[in-house]
Amino acid sequence: MALPYNKRTHDCGALRAADIGKSVLLSGWVDNFRDLGGMVFIDLRDRGGITQLKFDPNSDPAAHGIARTLRSEFVVCVRGEVISRGEKVNAKLPTGEIEVVVHEIELLSKSETPPFEISDDTETNEDLRLKHRVLDIRRPRMKNALMLRHKITRTIREYFDRNGFLDIETPILTKSTPEGARDYLVPSRIHHGCFFALPQSPQIFKQLLMIGGLDRYMQVARCFRDEDLRADRQPEFTQIDIEMAFVQAEDVMHHVETCIAEVAKVSRGLDVALPLPRISYAEAMLKYGKDAPDLRYDLTIKDVTEIAGRVDFGIFKDAIAKGGVVRCLVVPNGSEMTRKETDGLAEELKGIGAGGLPLVKVAVEGGKVVFQTGIAKFFTDAALVAEICTQIGAKSGDLILFAADHSDSVCKYLGWLRATVADRRGLIPKDRWAFCWVVDFPAFGYDAETKAVFPMHHPFTSPKDEDLHLLKLGTNEVPPKEDLLKVRAKAYDVVLNGIELGGGSIRIHRADVQSKIFQLLGLTPEDAKKKFAFLLDALRFGAPPHGGLALGLDRIIMLFGGYSSIREVIAFPKNARASCPLSDAPGEVAPEQLKELGISILK
Ligand code: AMO
Repeated sequence: MALPYNKRTHDCGALRAADIGKSVLLSGWVDNFRDLGGMVFIDLRDRGGITQLKFDPNSDPAAHGIARTLRSEFVVCVRGEVISRGEKVNAKLPTGEIEVVVHEIELLSKSETPPFEISDDTETNEDLRLKHRVLDIRRPRMKNALMLRHKITRTIREYFDRNGFLDIETPILTKSTPEGARDYLVPSRIHHGCFFALPQSPQIFKQLLMIGGLDRYMQVARCFRDEDLRADRQPEFTQIDIEMAFVQAEDVMHHVETCIAEVAKVSRGLDVALPLPRISYAEAMLKYGKDAPDLRYDLTIKDVTEIAGRVDFGIFKDAIAKGGVVRCLVVPNGSEMTRKETDGLAEELKGIGAGGLPLVKVAVEGGKVVFQTGIAKFFTDAALVAEICTQIGAKSGDLILFAADHSDSVCKYLGWLRATVADRRGLIPKDRWAFCWVVDFPAFGYDAETKAVFPMHHPFTSPKDEDLHLLKLGTNEVPPKEDLLKVRAKAYDVVLNGIELGGGSIRIHRADVQSKIFQLLGLTPEDAKKKFAFLLDALRFGAPPHGGLALGLDRIIMLFGGYSSIREVIAFPKNARASCPLSDAPGEVAPEQLKELGISILK
């Protein structure tokens, strides 16, 4: 019998005890099917939730007959009456107090047997889930992720709208915007040999909008970066991109943190205390070993270079002689870690470049603090052992993990150890939300391999006014690397639980400073012109001081939704090999298409 499925009275999550006695029309998918000899029960599912349907062979034999032919994922429309479940309330379901006794049913669509169960409880291989994403997003967890995504995006849009930001789209077919990754290129049919680059971010365009006088911009912007993937990285992802004219860092940070607090409230009911704490880049690296510190737990790194210099241990001595540092991590009660566990850590650490993992266990013998195992034999002086323990707050039963190398490597090793040990030893309180700003970033980093200076944020970031003199503006001179590495930037990152949510900066609004930065980054004036003439030109026509930031929307949803990967909060993500099992992209193209583009493929 044809039912008016376009006239649904409720969704499948809506009915409550107060609706008992109502005649309702529902549509959805068969989630669960139970034929109890006489009665048939079906859980009907749609975006709203699940409602139990009941088919009685005595009162409605025709509907009952159809119900018995249904299978999982068949699509039906039903008309029936809401009745009480009596004693059999299902407290797990919002609709658990009622059921709908079906008088009429129409089968709208059949389904083959799905390759996996549509349930949150089944573990299914990710590629299979991505290949059948249509089925995967019917699972409550995935559906909830996409509904949360909508809610968070709407909250953010509303915040910026209320505060005078204009939502403006910027080009997707464009020129390279350097954000440190490789570009995705799109060949031009009309201009053989020429390529568009998909934007790594709308960075230059949002600056042009400020120079164009639009004052406040925001965009929910798709960005493309061809880089190695991780749980919090996709080749195609979404930024909440903002830019403001006539501002200092404070103003941008204020809007960003207020907006994040609103999102936290709307999505999790959290009250975030503002302003967020700030920590300098130098402190973050020293204490936490990374520029996106996880402040949910203590376990801070301690510098012991001075004392280590007094220990007759070759690895410490060599590192210090080469201008390096010795730092350590005190693991509370870490002495209980087995040899297998610490050997495992050492092995994994080698995987990220360390030579090994010097360690000692702290114990008390004859009333005195002593070191045991590992490199304990090099600590012969009891007074020095006591001094080191006092300095780093180590007590009997603790484990001390050392790293000795140049500072960047030590940060990398101990930062990794801090996160790994905290995770494995259950030291991370899962209900804590630790936000912070990281500020005072260096403007430049140095790549020892290529022997080149690179921008820590991007080349449009303004150096701090007090460090401008180090750039030798107005001359053609390139200052020594040591001076450049001292220059700090007007840059800021916002971090949640050790994950960078967003990054931004105050930009260079003077053409001479921008040209100088390009020069310092090794671009000839011709190169700079070729790549960035459109920005340099704009800077010549009255650029207001301006700055902004971009938040990683996928990461925000992942964290507030409690998901472990951004793939879980993107409707159609790429897999870990940067391809799409659903559409089979990227794919080969026909020879004629290549010919039209003037492209031949190297074998
Ligand atoms: P940045 O490169 O720091 O800054 O990017 C901003 C934020 O975008 C998110 N993000 C990603 N999310 C998922 N997958 C990726 N591959 C990925 N790469 C980055 C992160 C990051 O903090 N134009 C500047 C912003 C500015 O200066 O205003 C920019 O893009 O959460």
